[in-house]
Amino acid sequence: MKKREIKKAVIPAAGLGTRFLPATKAIPKEMLPIVDEPTVQYIVDEAVRSGIEEILIITNSNKHCMENHFDRSYELENRLLESGKKEEYNMICGIANMANIYYVRQKEPKGLGHAILCAKSFIGDDPFAVLLGDDIVENHDGKPALKQLIEAYDKVQASIVGVQTVPDDDVSKYGIVEPAKGECLENRKVKLRSMVEKPAKEDAPSNMAVLGRYVLTPEIFDFLETQEPGANGEIQLTDAIKNLMISQSVYAYDFEGTRYDVGDKFGFIKATIEYALEKEELQGKLQQYLKDLVNTF
Ligand code: G1P
Repeated sequence: MKKREIKKAVIPAAGLGTRFLPATKAIPKEMLPIVDEPTVQYIVDEAVRSGIEEILIITNSNKHCMENHFDRSYELENRLLESGKKEEYNMICGIANMANIYYVRQKEPKGLGHAILCAKSFIGDDPFAVLLGDDIVENHDGKPALKQLIEAYDKVQASIVGVQTVPDDDVSKYGIVEPAKGECLENRKVKLRSMVEKPAKEDAPSNMAVLGRYVLTPEIFDFLETQEPGANGEIQLTDAIKNLMISQSVYAYDFEGTRYDVGDKFGFIKATIEYALEKEELQGKLQQYLKDLVNTF
């Protein structure tokens, strides 16, 4: 069988961003910056570094500025050139050339599963990646989280969800996986028997939570098309993946890297501080500021 390469990714970005109101009333949450880059740019960057060439962003009517961000901006480019700001000019042009980015609107907020279904004709018959915009993963000198999943996919040629272990009290925020009978993590990978979206602590089959990275076979669309609403009355991707397991193997991959939930205020603040500490021009000043701040409490 010819190996099918993962060259396409879907980034669902049609959420209302209610956890960040009022900031997200007029600005998409994906455009909120971590230091100086919008969160969606970190996600696109991870996809590109993982070998993705074509990206479909699922948007809604409030997300035009995301399209502008990844487009050319001739006026700004000319002004930067005229004023000799070559570095800034290169940076701005670079954003427009990161990948081939396409957009489609999710016309009704019916959940993550429904958003992914909007990508059906873009994806066609190929396996594809999904990256959720609320989950930023930093793996410093290691491989990007999605690249790790794609390499694992290459070995098993089956759908894989990216997981990490979360505390008991947090399982109800996530999709939680159930390993197949007698299976445990081997080389970070485990075959699954089931998956459940946002279970109560006492019902969770494990502590392994799906954290915003997926490689899926195109057969997922057959299940999404008929998927009934689940948790929160939404069409859940987790439920469709669970149903996919009846006819295909599905694996979980415990990816390396620090994951930030930037859809949550505390997660966003943590990511902002830690990314700022990585920036040479901010590092020294910020370290000193944080030390002084701690001493005042
Ligand atoms: C979504 C998914 C869930 C996953 C989570 C974190 O939930 O439905 O399975 O664990 O993202 O990536 P949401 O955070 O949109 O409620």
